[in-house]
Amino acid sequence: MLSGGAGTRLRPITHTSAKQLVPVANKPVLFYCLEAVRDAGITDIGIIVGDTVREIEAAVGDGSDMGISVTYIPQAAPLGLAHCVLIARDFLGADPFVMYLGDNFLIGGINALVADFCAERPDAQILLTKVADPSQFGVAELGADGTVARLVEKPANPRSDLALVGVYMFGPRVHDAVRAIQPSGRGELEITDAIQWLIDAGARVTPHFVTGYWKDTGRLEDMLDCNRLVLESLEPGLHGTVDEASTLVGRVVVEEGASICRSTIRGPAIVGRNTKIIDSYVGPFTSIYHSCSIERTEIEHSIVLEHSTIRGVARIEDSLIGKEVEVVPSSALPRAHRLMLGDHSKVSIA
Ligand code: G1P
Repeated sequence: MLSGGAGTRLRPITHTSAKQLVPVANKPVLFYCLEAVRDAGITDIGIIVGDTVREIEAAVGDGSDMGISVTYIPQAAPLGLAHCVLIARDFLGADPFVMYLGDNFLIGGINALVADFCAERPDAQILLTKVADPSQFGVAELGADGTVARLVEKPANPRSDLALVGVYMFGPRVHDAVRAIQPSGRGELEITDAIQWLIDAGARVTPHFVTGYWKDTGRLEDMLDCNRLVLESLEPGLHGTVDEASTLVGRVVVEEGASICRSTIRGPAIVGRNTKIIDSYVGPFTSIYHSCSIERTEIEHSIVLEHSTIRGVARIEDSLIGKEVEVVPSSALPRAHRLMLGDHSKVSIA
């Protein structure tokens, strides 16, 4: 399970936090990944960690809560996905394994993929899906017989619209491949190049196609998209308190210790543990994480991380708000926006 990397496309959130821990419907993306692997019967999980190691460890621990056993494997610098395989050699031994990118969001799990891999035992099994912008991904070209002919990492002129999804299965030959390849133009040992090396060496690389929903949650729009999708299938539940002056419409989850006062929550939406919603409107596709305070505010189609306060804001949409953020009115004169924003922040004022 890969959980390092810089997460540049989610700055400023990722200046201080791991991208894999950004919550979708109030659960970190990484947890969905770990559960998918566990549900496929794999409970021995090595997590590759980088600068955000402490945060990942604090969230996942030894994995026993989730019914898995976790080994942390530190990567000194983000030197590429194939480099992760290189440094996990002792952990992996000669066993076949799944490599799962901890920011990839795949609905439907990987049980069938693991079963196919175990039955066929190819040297590598890759997962492909059609995308609109293949140059953002590893791209596969298939031969006339449906086998994988060529793989290129983020090509400027993609020769197909088949992107590599970040869930791979390998047999032990991949260890020869990751030792043989050279760093790419971006200075990384690319797993795409390692798989190409296997193809060139005559190894068996089998493609599978993703039929369900898949997203690489690298960007804000992708996070909001995943959030929307998961909220849509949310089981409604009221575990906190809702006063008589409030209205809950549609699929709404109010987690333990949360309180809703004089507010309207129009689902699908989730209000986290110990969060207070007062004199506010929380609209569809919104996830408010734990210990937040939303007062005299309208918010919709957004994700708010823990311990944030939003007060007196007419309307917020399409937003990702980090931890311990304050968005509050000021009565000081002259009347002005007063901002303290992290590097790479984005503010759109209505
Ligand atoms: C990585 C892989 C790429 C793959 C993508 C899927 O890209 O290098 O081949 O298509 O994950 O999420 P990255 O997101 O690390 O740039």
